[in-house]
Amino acid sequence: MFEWSMKYETGSSFIDDNHKKLFEIGYDIVTFIQSESNEVSRCHLTNALKDFITYAKFSFSIEEDYMSEIEYAEFVSHRQEHYFFIKRLCYYDFDEIITNKESSQTLFEFIYSWLDQHMISEDLKLFNKQI
Ligand SMILES: [Fe+2]
Repeated sequence: MFEWSMKYETGSSFIDDNHKKLFEIGYDIVTFIQSESNEVSRCHLTNALKDFITYAKFSFSIEEDYMSEIEYAEFVSHRQEHYFFIKRLCYYDFDEIITNKESSQTLFEFIYSWLDQHMISEDLKLFNKQI
């Protein structure tokens, strides 16, 4: 989970670097969750989740600026995917999640599968790289 692969590369080094950074944060969090034998550290996970969401918003805004600049035909639907992802993350009860290893794992499985799917479909399409 959260291991970078060439299959995600859009050809835009700036976008790819942002995506890699998201994966790095996700990978660090998952590694941390899996390495904790007892109750996970509340403070560490809270900060890591905040970092992830902040960086995801930043990364999405860069893509949206680019879409706007090139007058991308699927701008609205692509932006909606970003919006609903962030909105769904906000539905999670982080207080419960950060003290429960299984909930943390479930959350990051969702995050990873969303990113994986979105990057392969929508982000590659944006850069005309969709297979
Ligand atoms: Fe995107």
